[in-house]
Amino acid sequence: MLPPSRRNRQVDLTEVYAYPGGARRWVRANMVSSVDGAATADGKSEGISGEADKRIFGVLRALADVILVGANTVRTEQYRPAKVREQYQAARKAAGQAPTAAIAVVSGRLDLDWSLPLFTEPAVPTIVLTSESAPDDRVQAATAVGVEVIAAGPDEVDLALAVDRLAERGLGRILCEGGPHLLGQLAAAERLDELCLAVSPQLLGGDSMRILAGPELTGGLPLILHTLLTEDGFLFSRYLIGTLSSAKKGESDGGEG
Ligand SMILES: NC(=O)c1ccc[n+]([C@@H]2O[C@H](COP(=O)([O-])OP(=O)(O)OC[C@H]3O[C@@H](n4cnc5c(N)ncnc54)[C@H](OP(=O)(O)O)[C@@H]3O)[C@@H](O)[C@H]2O)c1
Repeated sequence: MLPPSRRNRQVDLTEVYAYPGGARRWVRANMVSSVDGAATADGKSEGISGEADKRIFGVLRALADVILVGANTVRTEQYRPAKVREQYQAARKAAGQAPTAAIAVVSGRLDLDWSLPLFTEPAVPTIVLTSESAPDDRVQAATAVGVEVIAAGPDEVDLALAVDRLAERGLGRILCEGGPHLLGQLAAAERLDELCLAVSPQLLGGDSMRILAGPELTGGLPLILHTLLTEDGFLFSRYLIGTLSSAKKGESDGGEG
């Protein structure tokens, strides 16, 4: 139970969601779902999001080196380049970060429209993570507009390798924005360190995806609640993945308990 004295406390979201200091690589996912677990409403996340959720979304982007996203989410949510926000510039510079997070799209088929601003107009070049068997003509079309194409895995993207490739480039503060199939694979590849989950105060029914899709995680993945915030009936949780000792480490490294 949250004590009443804490309920109206204003929080500095950049402090609450600070990446743990000293981690060479930290993968955080940010997802929203309805109370009954729907990750989409009418095929998109817009209908389950809200004002405070969007604010946290912006803060998480401002803290990240790179935003990892599945190609279906890029296509469905019509992804654009991340915005350069003036208010975060000093902190990003001090942390040795580019003016904004790069977007890294995971795609095997590369069936993407390379003329979109996401690929042609980003402040920081967009990355595409694909496999060594990606179609050559599509790789060429992507590189021609300035996209950095990284192969990670022979036939499909090996998520563990993909994350390591980003970290090797100095992009270790990784924010995964879904979708459920990408997130399911990240968790299965043991490359997920943290889940930020917004629970929207509504029931949707139906049979839309949950926040993770794909193969079952054998034995399940334990989560430790690190932070819980609320606004407008939404619950914003920050879970660490792993054992209690890793949760304690996260607490001492950054953020609030
Ligand atoms: N509630 C939320 O917080 C939230 C967040 C994000 C998205 N969404 C919703 O989720 C839906 C999209 O999610 P989704 O699960 O269908 O798709 P997704 O995870 O966004 O993307 C799946 C696609 O990513 C590529 N991919 C993933 N793993 C790969 C691998 N190992 N190797 C090669 N390619 C790989 C493939 O792209 P190619 O087909 O190009 O090969 C695959 O079709 C949308 O409705 C979106 O609105 C909700």
